[in-house]
Amino acid sequence: MSYIVIGATGQLGTLTVDALLDRGAAPHDIVAAGRNADRLAALAARGVHTRSIDLSDPASLADLFSRDDTVLLISGNELGQRVVQHGNVIDAAKAAGVKRLVYTSAPKADDTALVLAPEHKATEELIAASGLPATILRNGWYTENYLQAAEQARQTGVLLTSAGEGRISSASRSDYAEAAAVVLLDDSTAGRTFELSGDTSWDQQELADAIGQATGREVALQSVTPDEHQRLLVAAGLDEGTAGFVVALDGNTRDGLLGVTNGELSALIGHPTTPLVDGLRAGVAATV
Ligand SMILES: NC(=O)c1ccc[n+]([C@@H]2O[C@H](COP(=O)([O-])OP(=O)(O)OC[C@H]3O[C@@H](n4cnc5c(N)ncnc54)[C@H](OP(=O)(O)O)[C@@H]3O)[C@@H](O)[C@H]2O)c1
Repeated sequence: MSYIVIGATGQLGTLTVDALLDRGAAPHDIVAAGRNADRLAALAARGVHTRSIDLSDPASLADLFSRDDTVLLISGNELGQRVVQHGNVIDAAKAAGVKRLVYTSAPKADDTALVLAPEHKATEELIAASGLPATILRNGWYTENYLQAAEQARQTGVLLTSAGEGRISSASRSDYAEAAAVVLLDDSTAGRTFELSGDTSWDQQELADAIGQATGREVALQSVTPDEHQRLLVAAGLDEGTAGFVVALDGNTRDGLLGVTNGELSALIGHPTTPLVDGLRAGVAATV
């Protein structure tokens, strides 16, 4: 019987391994699977088993799972490749007949215009088609997504946005990692889909204020139209595609797709989610 974390070398994955250990899982019952050799070695130093895998290589996944295993599939970060990669994990898990599969998805993945949702929706469909007992964690936004904006604002004193009045209910990665550990350890969550997010939502002015508190520099909000946003990002050096993606995400925010506050995350982890300013402060401190 093992808890197998796919993507353990990533930021969420490493925090999830820590959360499993904090919540009493025995190190020898945890398998941390990932690709980066240095980060696998750092995980091995915690006493857990490690496995080198490539999500694009089914052979690397073939003998990873057994019947009694509970598997956390953390969505990969290679956009456009993920349905095939996740499908490789699901196929291997199905072949082994694992006890349960847990997947980190996106808010309302099956019914949203969120630009990142289609690969998550397709993965959820593959999981359903596999017939495996599963728990879906539809993770909302990480507060850490705003650390780059915080760094830019620290340098320029300006937060650029086309998100309008849209609100975001972010939580820290560590909150989502705790939730992943909780559901991994609790088989009664099989069959459930959780919509996870921070307890409170904030708008761009509140983000600018929080960045100001976290960085010690007053930050002014520069709220622009999507076209102007695209133009300014390209002028600042982003390629058209990346700028378009940033603007599209701000559009999703403006449309309220990232602002759900239902309390499911804090209920799962047993405490309030990390407030925006605290999450930013921790992230800024970690990068100094
Ligand atoms: N909700 C949000 O706000 C939000 C924000 C960003 C991302 N996400 C999603 O949440 C996931 C976890 O977030 P994170 O911050 O922990 O991301 P991350 O630090 O980039 O970690 C991604 C993980 O995926 C693994 N991976 C990617 N491609 C792989 C491959 N071909 N073979 C083996 N492993 C592969 C990486 O392994 P190596 O490091 O060993 O290569 C790493 O463990 C992301 O991958 C993304 O799908 C969500």
